Amino acid sequence: MTLTITRTLPHDATAAALRDDVRCGLTRTVKSLPPKWFYDAHGSALFERITTDVAAYYPTRAERDLLAARAGDIAAATRARTLIELGSGAASEKTRLLLGALTDLHTYVPVDVSESALREAGEALTAERPGLDVHGLIADFTQHLALPAAPGPRLVALLGSTIGNLLPAERTAFFTSMRALLEPGDALLLGVDLVKDPSVLVAAYDDRETGITSAFNKNVLTVINRELGADFEPDAFEHVALWDAEREWIEMRLRSRTAQTVKIPALDLLVDFAAGEDLRTEISAKFRRPGLAVELARAGLDMAAWFTSPAQQVAMALGVPALSAPQGAYAPGTTACIR
Ligand code: SAH
Ligand code: TRP
Repeated sequence: MTLTITRTLPHDATAAALRDDVRCGLTRTVKSLPPKWFYDAHGSALFERITTDVAAYYPTRAERDLLAARAGDIAAATRARTLIELGSGAASEKTRLLLGALTDLHTYVPVDVSESALREAGEALTAERPGLDVHGLIADFTQHLALPAAPGPRLVALLGSTIGNLLPAERTAFFTSMRALLEPGDALLLGVDLVKDPSVLVAAYDDRETGITSAFNKNVLTVINRELGADFEPDAFEHVALWDAEREWIEMRLRSRTAQTVKIPALDLLVDFAAGEDLRTEISAKFRRPGLAVELARAGLDMAAWFTSPAQQVAMALGVPALSAPQGAYAPGTTACIR
């Protein structure tokens, strides 16, 4: 039984990246922030509460049901000896369903920016599965991933619609970097949410009853206050969730209730908000099978399998390296300021 945790992010990388992202995102005409900053310990706990307490938030339950039905098929298709889970968060029931089905599994590599989530998950799993090597990686999966040596075939999983939180250009970069990482026999398992009736989609991100989603959204302001000494007043913003029908994504925003100026001392920055001005905090893209297949193909990945949940709410795509060369060359290593 072994648990190893490796940090590939230098200790100050998080702080430096946060500063860059906040400066970049809050000085643009249309203000926005990248979503990975939601997930400090409090944000991770709030996300867990969304998945358990917000009845309208169906994706986690649907994905769990899908895995309960299909984990055996995924295991048979991949025969993975190493499972690499990107954005693993707390060791969920979904992770356990996959681990349980992969009968030849030797190594589990959870990857997350959140060290607290990694430690908790890693400790629980090594205790439960004494034969399993668990090698946690504190890393940003949108940056170059240095994986520990582990036996193939390898299955890289990105569950929970986390792929939908990346902008299209970031998604392309991610698929391209995955194609470079995968060897013949390896596979990429993507858990995606499907385009459906907008009222169902909006309800999942706009829960008025519990207030948990609003608290989760506003937590990014609390993170900036703590890390950069800013004076955001979370209650001076309103949680907004909108469906963008053209781009087929949910957009979460924080809408300034009044005209206000926020100080961010660590950046020596004053940020003005007009009354009613929005700060975009997250997108959650919804997918259709053909569109996703095209995106994967452009990165040199074939969609080898497609599974939908019992009520067709969410899906999983299995991508494998295509034999032919990728159709669209893309230079990875994109810059910080594309949002
Ligand atoms: N996989 C779990 C958790 C999803 S929440 C589930 O399906 O329920 C998203 C997780 O991804 C969080 O734990 C967050 O810390 C992590 N995450 C988000 N962006 C990341 C990034 N760029 N690199 C590494 N981890 C990231
Ligand atoms: N990846 C999840 C999703 O897009 C995470 C998430 C983002 C989320 N924002 C949320 C979950 C708001 C609930 C509410 O669905």
